[in-house]
Amino acid sequence: QWTPGQIIEDAIGRIRAQVGDEQVILGLSGGVDSSVAAALIHRAIGDQLTCVFVDNGLLRLNEGDQVMQTFADNLGVRVIRVDAEDRFLAALAGVTDPEQKRKIIGGLFVDLFEEQSKLLPAARWLAQGTIYPDVIESAGAKTGKAHNIKSHHNVGGLPDYMQLKLLEPLRELFKDEVRAIGEELGLPRAMVWRHPFPGPGLGVRILGEVKKEYADILRQADAIYIEELYRSGHYDKISQAFAVFLPVKSVGVMGDGRTYEYVVALRAVETRDFMTAGWYPMPYADLARISNRIINEVRGVNRVVYDISSKPPATIEWE
Ligand code: XMP
Repeated sequence: QWTPGQIIEDAIGRIRAQVGDEQVILGLSGGVDSSVAAALIHRAIGDQLTCVFVDNGLLRLNEGDQVMQTFADNLGVRVIRVDAEDRFLAALAGVTDPEQKRKIIGGLFVDLFEEQSKLLPAARWLAQGTIYPDVIESAGAKTGKAHNIKSHHNVGGLPDYMQLKLLEPLRELFKDEVRAIGEELGLPRAMVWRHPFPGPGLGVRILGEVKKEYADILRQADAIYIEELYRSGHYDKISQAFAVFLPVKSVGVMGDGRTYEYVVALRAVETRDFMTAGWYPMPYADLARISNRIINEVRGVNRVVYDISSKPPATIEWE
């Protein structure tokens, strides 16, 4: 039985032995795995690590700033932030098909990461937050859904010219161990225990065409929802919760006037493996408070619905 401290010590020794005095780049997403990998590698080799964080404009409220604060400000990790909202929104304009949206977002991620890595010609290693379940998954059937940098570059998927060696210090660890060492490395609890977030981000939680207006509405609604889940103690009992933007307008009343605004759907599921999932039996009082807050505080939304679909036949995400 290894303690988090021992796992870290062991990993640091191995990283140093592998890398020597060479430079490493890592695509930081803000998710648990890449975050823990970054913190661990930084602990081992300090400034030999450069992280590239692509802000695609499809992140949760304040997420980009939080990532920079945690890594650059607090841990002193060298992070290059690429503000690419405009490029992602331009590439997604007019596109409504979910798989096409995923392809565009995943492809642009890789392009931007490669652009950045060309600016770091000294890099010899590409670090990834691959964990043990990913290793098993890529050995077996592919879901065809994961379009983050991680999956694109998985095991041999690197463009030839980059000729980077892979550094995957979490490869033998399960999620719980990754979280435990993340906490031990000083990452914020909320980051380490955060629900999973898909690589394409809000791009698959805005149904149909992605627009900045929709993303801004969704970010606010989602932040209120998650804040209320923390406050009411539900967050840690739920496997994944998020808001979905429906580009559908419905009629409402406010004061003396009639409104005609968008719908937000709330999703919360319980699952062990994300292959099957049940909807979370949220108490009515909590739903009422969340709905009131979203409708009162988020401009452009006059109706909130709760998703009571299990997986299967529904999926967890709406796209
Ligand atoms: P579904 O919607 O298939 O989701 O029931 C199962 C889990 O996978 C996540 N998910 C994704 N993660 N890229 C990712 O990195 C994707 O394209 C993607 N699609 C779904 C989803 O959030 C859930 O945890």
